[in-house]
Amino acid sequence: MEVFTSVKSLRNFLDQQILQQKPIGLIPTMGALHEGHISLIEASKAENDITICSVFVNPTQFNNAEDLLKYPRTLEEDCVMLENAGCSAVFAPSVEEMHPEPAVLKINFGSLESVMEGASRPGHFNGVGIVVSKFFNIVRPHRAYFGQKDLQQVAVIRRLIIDLAFDLKLVVCPTIRETDGLAMSSRNRRLSEDERAIAPHIYRILVSSKSDLLAGKAINAVIQSAQEQFAGLKEFTLDYFEVVDVKTLMSIESIGAVGSNAICIAAFLGPVRLIDNVVF
Ligand code: PAF
Repeated sequence: MEVFTSVKSLRNFLDQQILQQKPIGLIPTMGALHEGHISLIEASKAENDITICSVFVNPTQFNNAEDLLKYPRTLEEDCVMLENAGCSAVFAPSVEEMHPEPAVLKINFGSLESVMEGASRPGHFNGVGIVVSKFFNIVRPHRAYFGQKDLQQVAVIRRLIIDLAFDLKLVVCPTIRETDGLAMSSRNRRLSEDERAIAPHIYRILVSSKSDLLAGKAINAVIQSAQEQFAGLKEFTLDYFEVVDVKTLMSIESIGAVGSNAICIAAFLGPVRLIDNVVF
């Protein structure tokens, strides 16, 4: 498995693959890899000859300096995991390589970013949109793999691909969970032992809320009940708990067709902000 740090060397490698008409799969990551990322590598390997994983903690998508500073960086371990998973090559550029000049372009995703993560983290999706566009232009993948855990990111990238006519297929893969239900996330390693022990409440409340909605309980009542449950768990500070349409991300007043509804949550557990969702 080759590890490229410069755009030029990665492009040279990929030019050869493109000449040989080999399908390329891209998994953009910020590293600190876990089984969730590896499931994306597996999905790509099943459909492409070449699987490229980018590992880059993108500063322009952080609106919180401490979050950026504390974001885990574990490139050596990541490379071992990727090699074992059969990834073809890793792209691990420096900030200067990826952003030689601060971008002047601003991407505004409109209503897709005025809610949830976009509302809580101003500028986040502009940073994501620009860096993902750069990865698409550098790697020129046939398919790009993203986890459903970042549901809003998936909605934004779906729009990016349509609006900028990127010639690739977006593949969305299911959230991978620990045995106690906690969604795998690079941020989980920042949880203390006590925080880690209670973190699965997030998924538990998501699942019970979903059951209540499917049983016909009113959406407002379900939201209120979830808010009350979090208020009773003093370690958590709930940021949002929303019942939305999967594609538009707008709050819904009644449950739609199977697969079109999502409950999305963001909560602080101590200093660590966790997100999760269920689609149904
Ligand atoms: O989901 C992530 O890890 C990041 O937002 C991404 C897509 C790699 C862009 O930096």
